[in-house]
Amino acid sequence: MSKPLSVGIAGLGTVGAGVAKLLRDNAGIIAARAGRPIVVTAVSSRDRAKDRGLAMAALRWHEDAVARAPDAAVDVVVEAIGGSEGPARSLVEATLAAGKPVVTANKALLALHGRALAALAEQHGVALGFEAAVAGGIPAIKALREGLAANQIRRVAGILNGTCNYILTEMRVRGLPFAEVLHQAQALGYAEADPSFDIDGVDAAHKLAILAALAFNRPVDFSELHVEGIRDISAVDIAMAEALGYRIKLLGIAERTDAGVSARVHPCMVPVDAPIARVDGVFNAVVAEGDAVGRVMLEGRGAGAGPTASAVVADLIDIARGRFSPVWGADTAALNAAVALPMHQHRGAYYLRLMVLDRPGVIADVTAVLRDAAISLESMLQRGRAPAGAVPVVLTTHECGEAAMQAALARLAALDSVLEKPALIRIETL
Ligand code: NAP
Ligand code: HSE
Repeated sequence: MSKPLSVGIAGLGTVGAGVAKLLRDNAGIIAARAGRPIVVTAVSSRDRAKDRGLAMAALRWHEDAVARAPDAAVDVVVEAIGGSEGPARSLVEATLAAGKPVVTANKALLALHGRALAALAEQHGVALGFEAAVAGGIPAIKALREGLAANQIRRVAGILNGTCNYILTEMRVRGLPFAEVLHQAQALGYAEADPSFDIDGVDAAHKLAILAALAFNRPVDFSELHVEGIRDISAVDIAMAEALGYRIKLLGIAERTDAGVSARVHPCMVPVDAPIARVDGVFNAVVAEGDAVGRVMLEGRGAGAGPTASAVVADLIDIARGRFSPVWGADTAALNAAVALPMHQHRGAYYLRLMVLDRPGVIADVTAVLRDAAISLESMLQRGRAPAGAVPVVLTTHECGEAAMQAALARLAALDSVLEKPALIRIETL
């Protein structure tokens, strides 16, 4: 067998330690598939004394991972520190500039700096692997970039944040409050260091930016995305969704039409019998629609040590074999510049919940606003009585324009009879 591939791991948290353990536990099968052993020889982290469940004595310790990027005894660097700036960015840039391949699970870094990093990798002719950056253990990058390479991709979408899917699932199934479930997700190692990245949709948006770049061979551009999270999803909306035959999921959806490319992350109501509605807990799903293949859906664990390490090691095996593709599926010069479509041009159906005074004439006021905005109702639900308080009124619409809906929403929120900020959730049929 040929010379082992020598790996340096920077960051020994959930991902980094998970990679070291997987390389140790499955060394035989990995060596057979890689054509040579893959061996961790150097590591770095902040706290040298912390017990990681690893035999550290045989490993070289890099006090400063960035300064040791050109270490001649390391063939490939695994960046598992996290963050779009600081040591993670410096390490990846320094390693690529030194002509050495990098594997990273860092979607924030790729979403914000992927264009420049791809150019750097291309300039030095080295691999930049990031299978673990999107949907954890699901081989979504390989599927889009290699498996579906012959297709014009019309749409790529999915449940891209395990923490949010876990929270929404536990709120629905076990009736637990938002804060308690978030705490559980953090304890299980699913959440980002800053959990607002998860619950405000930013982490899913980082991943969608990466998927959109691959699907449409377009330079990654995070600033184009429309992003909403799940903070405002209430138990009432979860119950109403059930009553109407929907489930609430945080989805990322990127589409290409003749007019351009749109990419958005927000809570969605999906019909309860849609395959994606049944993807629960920390599981993620990625759906791609190609002109030749039709619809493909991949489902699996999107976070945690095992799934993420599985994806990182897959990239290491490719590097050991000398296999790699251009970062965004085509050489930088061959990427296209399709126009980005803003959210106000979106069209779709909507769920709208208003907490209104329980008195005559309120429904007439509400429907007058929607009539004036030329928004057609599909259904309306009001149950219960609260003569002295608020009752929920739930409306679903036929397809209409986002701009008209947002204008109507502002008028509805200003009505005397509407007592709280209205809830708006887009209805999607994936
Ligand atoms: P984590 O558990 O917080 O681990 C981060 C590690 O980085 C820690 O070991 C920390 O050291 C180390 N570190 C911090 N600053 C450093 C520096 N300057 N030099 C060297 N090491 C440094 O984070 P994680 O969950 O493993 O996530 C790592 C990356 O993977 C992030 O980009 C994340 O978005 C991504 N990711 C995570 C998951 C997941 O399920 N957790 C899934 C997919 C992708 P100490 O341990 O000594 O404090
Ligand atoms: N915080 C992320 C999630 C980890 O919950 O999906 C995986 O990227």
